[in-house]
Amino acid sequence: MRKKIFSGVQPTGNLHLGNYLGAIKNFVELSNQKDNECVFCVVDLHAITIKQDPKQLKRNIRETAATFIASGIDPNSSIIFNQSMVSAHSECAWILSCVSKIGWLNRMTQFKEKAGKDKEKASIGLYSYPVLMAADILLYDATHVPVGNDQKQHLELCRDIAQKFNNDFDALDFLKVPEPLIQKQFSRIMSLKDGLKKMSKSDPSDLSRINLTDEKDVILNKIKKAKTDPMPMPTDVMNLSARPEAENLLGIYSSLRSQGLEESINEFKGKQFSEFKERLSETLIEKIEPISREIKKLLNDEKYLDQILFNGSEKANKIASKKIKEIKQLVGF
Ligand code: TYM
Repeated sequence: MRKKIFSGVQPTGNLHLGNYLGAIKNFVELSNQKDNECVFCVVDLHAITIKQDPKQLKRNIRETAATFIASGIDPNSSIIFNQSMVSAHSECAWILSCVSKIGWLNRMTQFKEKAGKDKEKASIGLYSYPVLMAADILLYDATHVPVGNDQKQHLELCRDIAQKFNNDFDALDFLKVPEPLIQKQFSRIMSLKDGLKKMSKSDPSDLSRINLTDEKDVILNKIKKAKTDPMPMPTDVMNLSARPEAENLLGIYSSLRSQGLEESINEFKGKQFSEFKERLSETLIEKIEPISREIKKLLNDEKYLDQILFNGSEKANKIASKKIKEIKQLVGF
């Protein structure tokens, strides 16, 4: 079956190793498979659910597009565009918000985490953001959506919204119910400072994450300072359950080398953490530095990046405007 792939990344700066290993690395692999049709979106409408500096946002939109390309997505064979250039996303989100239940959104754990203690002060956009995400996916009849583990609940909601719309408007299979593509292993990369916390752009400590633009010395320093535990390197996967930091670092190493956790454990069993950390840093530098270099190079050519986004948005618009027209007809507009 030909897969239609859709995924998005927010242009909120500090794209990190979690974004790369949990999502972008997968985008690249999927986009290299001949028959797949891939759409990768810089979700700038999602970004403004939290206050953004307009100048910085513009830079971040280009940087996210540059990261896609630098990681290995070919803009000639995949569509790369930014969400705000295709108005069907906002229109579709409104219509879908009228079939979605408040009770469904109230269950979203990411809203609870992001809104923090004072939910009254969070924007309405932050609350309804999973509906916009459903609109993104459903406009393109996506069959598969590659994401990290933290987006699982949003994808389940997207499936519920699609089914409810189809039921409400008596349109069997009209909105395609997508399959999440979440890797079994390494789909949740944790902070370098706390193995129980997700690696995140919003963590105030830069030492908690490897940014995709970090240079060699910065990577070396961050891995040197990464939290471990006082025990020697584990000898078995079973030893990892109570050792979140060791599990995370070994997971990062395995994912970067596309090898199983067991293989990495065998490589380092009985050795010191310092030796493992040296190898981990080398691997990170080997994989991340070329991407970082390419991102910086691409960012020097804003015209090129803007052209890619413009071309991508024209192609995306063709697909999305057809679908929103059909949606409007079904609704009765
Ligand atoms: P965003 O921008 O927060 O993250 C982009 C992608 O990176 C993954 N990710 C991680 N994976 C593993 N470990 C981590 N620590 C980690 N941190 C982030 C995310 O799971 C995601 O796949 N709502 C989405 C963007 C979006 C979208 C869409 C995705 C908007 N519309 C439609 C798919 C389809 C988000 O905020 O991702």
